[in-house]
Amino acid sequence: MNLINLQLRNFRNYDNLYLEFNKNINLLVGKNGQGKTNIVESIYMLAIGKSFRTNKDKELIKFDRENLYIRGNFDKIGGVRGIELFIEKSKKGIKVNKIPILKIAELLGNLNVVIFSPEDLKLVKDGPKERRAFIDKEISQIMPKYYNYLMNYNKVLLQRNRHLKGYKVDGDLLDVYDMNLAKYGSYIYIIRRDFIKKLSGISKKFHEDLTDKRENLSIDYKNQIDLTDDDDFSTANEKMLEKLNSHRNGDIESRTTRYGVHRDDLNIYIDGLDVRMYGSQGQQRTASISIKISEIELIKMEVGEYPVLILDDVFSELDEVRQGLLVDKLKHIQMFITTAELSHKNIFNKKNTTVFNIDNGRVASIENGGN
Ligand SMILES: Nc1ncnc2c1ncn2[C@@H]1O[C@H](COP(=O)(O)OP(=O)(O)OP(=O)(O)O)[C@@H](O)[C@H]1O
Ligand SMILES: [Mg+2]
Repeated sequence: MNLINLQLRNFRNYDNLYLEFNKNINLLVGKNGQGKTNIVESIYMLAIGKSFRTNKDKELIKFDRENLYIRGNFDKIGGVRGIELFIEKSKKGIKVNKIPILKIAELLGNLNVVIFSPEDLKLVKDGPKERRAFIDKEISQIMPKYYNYLMNYNKVLLQRNRHLKGYKVDGDLLDVYDMNLAKYGSYIYIIRRDFIKKLSGISKKFHEDLTDKRENLSIDYKNQIDLTDDDDFSTANEKMLEKLNSHRNGDIESRTTRYGVHRDDLNIYIDGLDVRMYGSQGQQRTASISIKISEIELIKMEVGEYPVLILDDVFSELDEVRQGLLVDKLKHIQMFITTAELSHKNIFNKKNTTVFNIDNGRVASIENGGN
């Protein structure tokens, strides 16, 4: 799929902006602090309904203005669609094809966007929380149902933990919490397990390309309930319930829920060794790139077409060989690449590339390679 155009009104440092995009590569070039990331942030908002930089929608409204508006049309199997987003104070409205939606889950899955920023280069090195967030975000995009399970799970988890921290523990109430945690947890487990299995297969191939077949990357899902690949929903459900039951006393003592999908993680190996512990910095970064880029193929498999890819400030972090590989491998995908310097212009095929020169909340000039 590809974003055809974008309109911004009072978004961050933009007054009024209307852009039409290249189906392939869109380079957003400009000095620091000019508004490159602001543009990709607004694109991301159309996909997910919120920013990747802040949870406070108010920060997105241009200083001294009352409200903001973002609109984008994108081409997708089945025709052109439009998304509009309006924010005023704490009010937010989203329309898909001019029809207002009530829940974020209804927005997800319309415009698929994968964003790759410098933090993602730390995916392998980061803590389990960040890796879980990565997995959850990716699955939610292709499976809005998953997002609902996750929200429900987190709600019950919060209630259970709050109760455990309270004055007196009510066994009957814990029974209800446990039943719900096991139910939503099993859905989450099974969906994650399938996702990670596919991710592992794809990232293995991608990693071979990036390392000239020198390294063998593999990923598996680390869950602390000892669930296996053969477990179906009802077995997973039983095992989770049993785990919560047999550790209830310990939970009461430590006043928190110690077992469940909220503590799961990924194991990431290169040639059989845990990269987090034994990998070099370079290996950890390359493995992060392989995993992150694999999402693109995965979305293609699930959704039937490629998502839009945003590379925010990561391009200049890659060496020339990897830049070339990436551009070549992803040539059939629409990309938005922000960069403060354009030192390797030769990597881009002029015909497939449009350069937007960004200067202080304005697009100062456009070099169009044509489509
Ligand atoms: N709500 C807002 N209203 C007006 N201006 C804003 C608002 N939020 C951020 N800005 C301005 O946007 C600019 C930052 O934009 P952005 O993050 O897109 O920069 P960038 O071009 O990506 O820079 P870098 O190369 O450093 O990443 C800053 O100058 C900041 O003051
Ligand atoms: Mg930026």
